[in-house]
Amino acid sequence: MQAIRSLFIPKWSSDVRLDGKTAIVTGANVGIGKETAKDLAGRGARVILACRDMAKGEQAARDIMREVNGAKVVARQLDLADTKSICQFAENIYNTEKALHCLINNAGVAMCPYSITVDGYEMQFGVNHLGHFFLTFLLLDLLKHSAPSRVINLSSAAHAMGKIQFDDLSGEKDYHPVRAYAQSKLANVLFTRELAKRTEALDVMAYSVDPGIVSTDITRHLWRPLVDLVKTFSFLVKTPAEGANTTVYCTVTPESQLHTGGYYKDCASAESSRAGQDDGTALKLWAVSCHLLGIRWR
Ligand SMILES: NC(=O)c1ccc[n+]([C@@H]2O[C@H](COP(=O)([O-])OP(=O)(O)OC[C@H]3O[C@@H](n4cnc5c(N)ncnc54)[C@H](OP(=O)(O)O)[C@@H]3O)[C@@H](O)[C@H]2O)c1
Repeated sequence: MQAIRSLFIPKWSSDVRLDGKTAIVTGANVGIGKETAKDLAGRGARVILACRDMAKGEQAARDIMREVNGAKVVARQLDLADTKSICQFAENIYNTEKALHCLINNAGVAMCPYSITVDGYEMQFGVNHLGHFFLTFLLLDLLKHSAPSRVINLSSAAHAMGKIQFDDLSGEKDYHPVRAYAQSKLANVLFTRELAKRTEALDVMAYSVDPGIVSTDITRHLWRPLVDLVKTFSFLVKTPAEGANTTVYCTVTPESQLHTGGYYKDCASAESSRAGQDDGTALKLWAVSCHLLGIRWR
């Protein structure tokens, strides 16, 4: 089984250290985010676990400190479904951190029944795209000041099924949980491309990541028999630590070996869908996102 697994799940490791670097990982209390935070802490980085539930965030910080000798991790409250919480989080970061070298926009909600954020956006578009878009906007000065720095956006292979429904971004007319997830994950790819264009000259690089099929709780809203069926193909399903590898790869690989704005999977450059390469849609999404959030980001 191990031999078959290694055909589908390539092994990757690196001994690059991150001493003196600071990273933020959103949704770091469980799953891929927690493993990403643990890996970065093991490399010497100071890691801020941005979690909506502080009890879970603090528990995750304790777990990491127990497992990683000398880990420098701290949990901070961030609810990506609430722009006020995002502002408070960013303010707290500016008050406490001198630098930010890597922002990992990892948190996500997948295929949930229709619901809306505090600000009235459909939950998946609101959290997965708009929340991270706003967070990045607010933290960009610190990323610029700390350059070279990086923004890593967790997308998914599901982005390939996505379409940005500009006439119904909030799914009010016609909501489908899978379509809304795919739209939000396509938005992650498009945001990365447009961000990279705007920040490359500032030495702030941007990458989007497909972590693969990873055994986490992200499937909580999916039909259980389907989830169980996929899990029987265990050679296809990554552990959370394996799922974190491509994010870590994009964090530690020298800039010269990566392509800013690019899409990565299995610790290598990959091609996103055609829709994921549509610069016109990326630009329009940027403008619409700014409009919805009431911000000016040129
Ligand atoms: N697992 C996969 O197979 C897979 C495949 C492709 C892409 N991805 C992507 O990988 C990323 C990580 O997913 P995962 O599999 O590790 O999922 P997970 O175990 O369900 O973790 C999701 C994280 O996001 C947090 N979160 C959800 N809503 C939030 C909000 N409003 N504000 C702040 N944090 C929020 C969750 O916090 P709570 O614990 O408080 O809910 C949790 O920490 C996601 O972006 C997902 O789309 C995963």
